[in-house]
Amino acid sequence: MFDDNDFVCRHMQLTKADIIKVIREKDITSFEDLQDETDVATVCGSCVADIEEILEDEIAKREM
Ligand code: FES
Repeated sequence: MFDDNDFVCRHMQLTKADIIKVIREKDITSFEDLQDETDVATVCGSCVADIEEILEDEIAKREM
């Protein structure tokens, strides 16, 4: 698990908190939309699974 200030995507210098902020502010529902907004996971791709997990958690929270 990541803390808010941990880099989830090192290449784009995005922390968990940065990613969650974008997901909430832009009402992101898909990985592709998140990528359009942030360019996350466009370099090595090793962060994809972690990003997807954060996104899924946020979507699940919305539906609660
Ligand atoms: S760590 Fe995210 S693209 Fe490399």
